[in-house]
Amino acid sequence: MEKKNIDWANLGFGYVQTDKRYVSNYKDGKWDDGALIDDPNIVMNECAGVLQYAQTVFEGMKAYTTEDGHIVTFRPDLNAARMVDSAKRLEMPVFPEDRFVDAVVQTVKANAAYVPPYGSGATLYIRPYMFGINPVIGVKPADEYQFRVFTTPVGPYFKGGVKPITICVSDFDRAAPHGTGHIKAGLNYAMSLHAIVTAHKNGFDENMYLDSATRTKVEETGGANFLFVTKDNKIVTPKSKTILPSITRRSLMYVAEHYLGLEVEEREVYFDEVKDFAECGLCGTAAVISPVGKVVNHGEEICFPSGMEKMGPTIQKLYDTLTGIQMGHIEAPEGWIKVIE
Ligand SMILES: Cc1ncc(COP(=O)(O)O)c(C=O)c1O
Repeated sequence: MEKKNIDWANLGFGYVQTDKRYVSNYKDGKWDDGALIDDPNIVMNECAGVLQYAQTVFEGMKAYTTEDGHIVTFRPDLNAARMVDSAKRLEMPVFPEDRFVDAVVQTVKANAAYVPPYGSGATLYIRPYMFGINPVIGVKPADEYQFRVFTTPVGPYFKGGVKPITICVSDFDRAAPHGTGHIKAGLNYAMSLHAIVTAHKNGFDENMYLDSATRTKVEETGGANFLFVTKDNKIVTPKSKTILPSITRRSLMYVAEHYLGLEVEEREVYFDEVKDFAECGLCGTAAVISPVGKVVNHGEEICFPSGMEKMGPTIQKLYDTLTGIQMGHIEAPEGWIKVIE
């Protein structure tokens, strides 16, 4: 199969239309068989549930080429399971987990020409999502839904090398104590837009959200979980019912414990402790780990000893090990790598 003529190394993170997308419709209490289609546009009623009351959930994952030339994805079963949790919380029908993985495989296969080659640093981003599509004017769940998967090639996350970022403690809240912070619903991201635009205006790369109830504990950023390294090399990650359970973070904690022999701890992390950590990183599909060099809390700066030039040594090891597993240089735990072709 011939690859598309794309300058992989200089691709950004934007939408590039690919050839095929997967669609399945839910009507009269059941999902249809689903199919790959060509049309990237969706026609829906002006009163569709998703347009009026934001009834939509999604996932984000990537396909890439390993050193031995296979196209693979990383732990798609966990994305499928997380989408079930998201759908249930928004009173949407569940898209069966095995069908989710099959839809991802079909869509990636159909767009294999857009999967960047090994070594380019680029990936094929995969976006599964579902939404209420029939007219809804009283506030209630829709009766009809559409599940879709599209793909778009995206460039290397760290262009021109890894650079630690500076983040600020946000004055806005991301998630209510018994709200929807733990699911991947569009509504969580709509309300984060003002906060991230404000952070960027103020010269910061990202927001650190604190828990809304007490504003004393570290939660996450708008799109990644935190991972800290203590001065005695223990890995600590915030435990909270209001953060999204990152698949990357769960994988890194496993790697820390089982591949690197480090002590790991998932527990409440108070903001007051942040100044005592040696390293800090943000975990998510996009970057795997993005190092944080500095946290600013209303003018007060916390600078991690790992500095602003490179990843700290432990975060670097974690990054190298997980990306090694993903790329096929290091043996993966059973079931982590789904070979597509
Ligand atoms: C709010 C939030 N937290 C964390 C993550 C990282 O999750 P994952 O590692 O599954 O990509 C994401 C991205 O999906 C996110 O949107």
